[in-house]
Amino acid sequence: MGDQGTHAAARPLRILSGVQPSGRPHIGNYFGAMRQNIELSKRSDAFIFIADYHALTTIREPKKLAEYSLGLAKDYLALGLDPGGCAFYRQSDLPEVCELAWILSTVTPMGLLERCVSYKDKMAKGFAPDHGLFAYPVLMAADILIFNAHKVPVGRDQIQHIEMARDFAQRFNHLYGEPVGKTFFTLPEAAIEEHVATLPGLDGRKMSKSYDNTIPLFAPREQLKKLIFSIVTDSRAPGEAKDTEGSALFQLYQAFASAEETAAMRAAFADGIGWGDAKQTLFDRIDREVAPLRERYNDLMAKPAIIEEQLRDNAVALRERHATPLLRTLREAVGLRDLSKAGDAPKVEKEQAAALPQLKQYREKDGKFYFKLADGDVVLLQSIGFENPKDAGAWVARFRQEGGAALSAAVASIAAQTAEAGAALDALKRAEDERAQSKTG
Ligand code: TYM
Repeated sequence: MGDQGTHAAARPLRILSGVQPSGRPHIGNYFGAMRQNIELSKRSDAFIFIADYHALTTIREPKKLAEYSLGLAKDYLALGLDPGGCAFYRQSDLPEVCELAWILSTVTPMGLLERCVSYKDKMAKGFAPDHGLFAYPVLMAADILIFNAHKVPVGRDQIQHIEMARDFAQRFNHLYGEPVGKTFFTLPEAAIEEHVATLPGLDGRKMSKSYDNTIPLFAPREQLKKLIFSIVTDSRAPGEAKDTEGSALFQLYQAFASAEETAAMRAAFADGIGWGDAKQTLFDRIDREVAPLRERYNDLMAKPAIIEEQLRDNAVALRERHATPLLRTLREAVGLRDLSKAGDAPKVEKEQAAALPQLKQYREKDGKFYFKLADGDVVLLQSIGFENPKDAGAWVARFRQEGGAALSAAVASIAAQTAEAGAALDALKRAEDERAQSKTG
């Protein structure tokens, strides 16, 4: 798996994204997320998963849910995902995600969930809301935060959920991190590819399983043709110039096409291409792209046991390396603790002091002198190498005195730093101040 450890400063870009197995993936899912995920997994630390806990909010047929989950795993493999080069897993193999969702739900204001667009949308369509649907963004935040992902490649409809995940992370960091200068969660950001962030469906509305207007990515050739010829267009006759703006057909074409092909189609629209010809061109373009994938997909038919084994093995490793240690830290932070140590006030204080990040000065094999700020295993701040130990020492002393305020003056002496470094330095300074005060007082 492409798991590169937990050092924040040295950590490569970590991406994470899930797709629900709530039907067969469609072209919107492919361009909005799956294609980006696969591309990014080649050059970053990638976590790509089957969001089957989430699909429980819509799929009530157990057999179907299992079929869709297998189908989605095969889709990813057929699309070229290298399961050895990234963390490819199934959400429900990580029960810690649910535990984290519960912990996060205790810092989630109801009002925030009530304002969630996708929830309001479903309500407006007459869905009888259950708690799963309402709490959906909390579970999604847990997916992202459990691996401290930096970027989340998604379509536009998921941006609000990712903003909520940031919000929950911030709240938790603030509530439980401030007193001991600890930061538990990285704040994630959505990664959007603008021109395909909301692909339209056959009727011109957003392509969505719930609107029944999708073009399944691996639709057989004949079905693909039928669907494409059913795309809604206006009534302009051949020879009349057509608008690309607002045309579902044009938007779908540009998702697949190169810049030159898109320019040619734009010109054809202006020249009055007939809708039949435009649909045929779109069909040919899509079919050219997906025909080899369809074949790969069909070849994978016979290997569900291998897929199952891979997903399980990956989840075991992910739990061991990430989920279990993180939940241990979080349980400790919120007070779900070993009772044999409860009530022992001096010891708890000591534990909190030990939980403070540490500023360390040291010498490397290159003979130079360095300092770093580390929170357990995680490096929050890393200096450049100094020829003279006094230079490293002077910065350590200054950070102790001034906290994060000294960071801007130290820019040239810092090789790497995380977003959490400033807050951690402030916490250290506070602890130093308190210690000094208790000595004098
Ligand atoms: P889901 O399963 O509805 O969709 C999967 C991905 O496809 C994108 N997408 C689209 N992109 C462009 N045009 C469209 N018409 C279109 N329709 C869907 C979605 O934006 C999404 O990126 N909540 C998520 C699944 C999830 C998740 C996560 C994602 C669960 N946990 C953590 C990221 C991180 C969802 O329902 O996606």
